[in-house]
Amino acid sequence: MLVALRGDLGAGKTTLVRSVLRALGVSGRIKSPTYPLLETYNVSSLYFYHFDFYRIKDPSELEDAGFREYFSGPGLCFVEWPERAGDWLPAPDVTLTLLVEDAGRTLLAASGSDLGRECLERMYNA
Ligand SMILES: Nc1ncnc2c1ncn2[C@@H]1O[C@H](COP(=O)(O)OP(=O)(O)O)[C@@H](O)[C@H]1O
Ligand SMILES: [Mg+2]
Repeated sequence: MLVALRGDLGAGKTTLVRSVLRALGVSGRIKSPTYPLLETYNVSSLYFYHFDFYRIKDPSELEDAGFREYFSGPGLCFVEWPERAGDWLPAPDVTLTLLVEDAGRTLLAASGSDLGRECLERMYNA
């Protein structure tokens, strides 16, 4: 499953992923993957991949880094700056867009697949 995270620098993308990981029970330091591009977590039997493509100049860098397999396997991928990957990235199941407001953030959530729609429906009904 692919979750694309959109929003300006400082919009709160990393903070949102950190909160998701905390809610899944991850303790200890949760780093931004800005420099390594990827941080991986094993949460029970779930493979959780947190990418940040901010520093990517060309999608070929992602191919060269061997990242393709993460997007075709069974894991859950959260990607900051998906627009940097262009057409290289598959269509997201969910796109989350963070907009900075004076005292907080507005989150726009859109699904791009049946799986994504089911996920958002469960989130709204929770
Ligand atoms: N929902 C929020 N409300 C208020 N401040 C936030 C929120 N989310 C993040 N921040 C603050 O915004 C700053 C940048 O957040 P960060 O997650 O690093 O942004 P991004 O990954 O989009 O560049 C941090 O100081 C963080 O504490
Ligand atoms: Mg970030």
